[in-house]
Amino acid sequence: MAKKPFRVGMIGYGFMGRAHTNAYKQVGQFFPSEHQVVLKAACARNEAEIKKFADQWGYESTETDWRKLVERKDIDAVDICVPNNLHAEIALAAAANGKAILCEKPLAMNAAEGRKMVEAVERAKVPNIVWYNYRRIPAVSLAKKLIDEGRLGKVFHYRAKFLQDWTIKSDLPQGGQGLWRLDIAAAGAGVSGDLLAHCIDTAVWMNGGMDSLCAMTETFVKERMHNLTGKVEKVGIDDACTFFGKFANGSLANFESTRYARGHKALYTLEINGENMSLFWDLHDLHRLQVFDYKDDGPIRGWKSVHVTDNSPDHPYMANWWVPGLAIGYDSSFTHQVADFLAGLSSGRPAGPTFRDALETQLILDAILDSAKSKQWVNVGKV
Ligand SMILES: NC(=O)c1ccc[n+]([C@@H]2O[C@H](COP(=O)([O-])OP(=O)(O)OC[C@H]3O[C@@H](n4cnc5c(N)ncnc54)[C@H](O)[C@@H]3O)[C@@H](O)[C@H]2O)c1
Repeated sequence: MAKKPFRVGMIGYGFMGRAHTNAYKQVGQFFPSEHQVVLKAACARNEAEIKKFADQWGYESTETDWRKLVERKDIDAVDICVPNNLHAEIALAAAANGKAILCEKPLAMNAAEGRKMVEAVERAKVPNIVWYNYRRIPAVSLAKKLIDEGRLGKVFHYRAKFLQDWTIKSDLPQGGQGLWRLDIAAAGAGVSGDLLAHCIDTAVWMNGGMDSLCAMTETFVKERMHNLTGKVEKVGIDDACTFFGKFANGSLANFESTRYARGHKALYTLEINGENMSLFWDLHDLHRLQVFDYKDDGPIRGWKSVHVTDNSPDHPYMANWWVPGLAIGYDSSFTHQVADFLAGLSSGRPAGPTFRDALETQLILDAILDSAKSKQWVNVGKV
């Protein structure tokens, strides 16, 4: 039977442009569906660079203006892989043109902007998803399954960290290609929106919404040369952020992120402690879930390391890959996201996080910055 084409228009060809394109190329082989992904067009402002990318990755055509791309009749879905300050404008235009939208995280620069994006996709009734891909690492998906099965009992604590060290150098400039993350006008926030956003999405997905929080942020390097203006300018982003909070289920939140933890490149860890079970996961050992089950027989009770690579339905996604015991990687989380998105189109049960789901993370991010500024506990806004 002929498959339904799913014609992708990709905006951006950087880190995420490559990660998503890799997923589009893999998905049909490992997660066959009624859809056939077609790499229709890739877009960026630099014509030579986007042509090079399109040739290398197999896109049929290119555009240098995203406005043209979102209007094209031969595109079904727009994938937004550009700096955060462009997400809303592109998403609103894509929704107005009836396109499905796959938007990178964080959803928006702030919750007010995110709300407009939610309204736009819901008004236009277009399928939508945000790339909080860590949900779809099999060990993380398994943790969610164990929680949903009620194995943890009452949850007391959820803690997460995301640590990096790449901005310690004080003469690193801000702004422009590759360094837009340091520029408040392009990023909207620092490590909170960039790194904690992932931790928060996973936490809310697993443990429910957050009621209130108290945050502290620090900008260690106060001024940096701006690549776009050529002048030394104030740094507006948070270099580090820690916060405590309370989930609606009564459990306590303890989160930290920084780009100043010398030696750490992308150390995302999470731990959840329930009355019957604790779970721990570490991005550097991503196929393992550490489990402590209090119900285990006393003499052999202890933390066990589950290698989440079994070819049975017990281990999410793994039946579609190799044979039991063989690991997959970071890149597969994006393939799983495309697979789930396409399955959602077929079933009519949309895969998450939708824009509406991601707004919850955005509201927590807003509360973090409000709290850090006011030095007060802040209630999290409601979706
Ligand atoms: N899900 C994840 O794990 C993850 C990881 C990294 C980045 N991200 C998110 O993905 C997005 C992109 O990040 P990245 O690391 O790929 O950035 P990047 O700097 O590697 O790439 C950004 C791309 O945007 C393009 N671009 C910038 N302005 C443009 C414009 N006006 N029109 C068309 N193209 C334009 C640039 O040419 C570049 O190709 C950000 O929102 C970021 O937060 C998510």
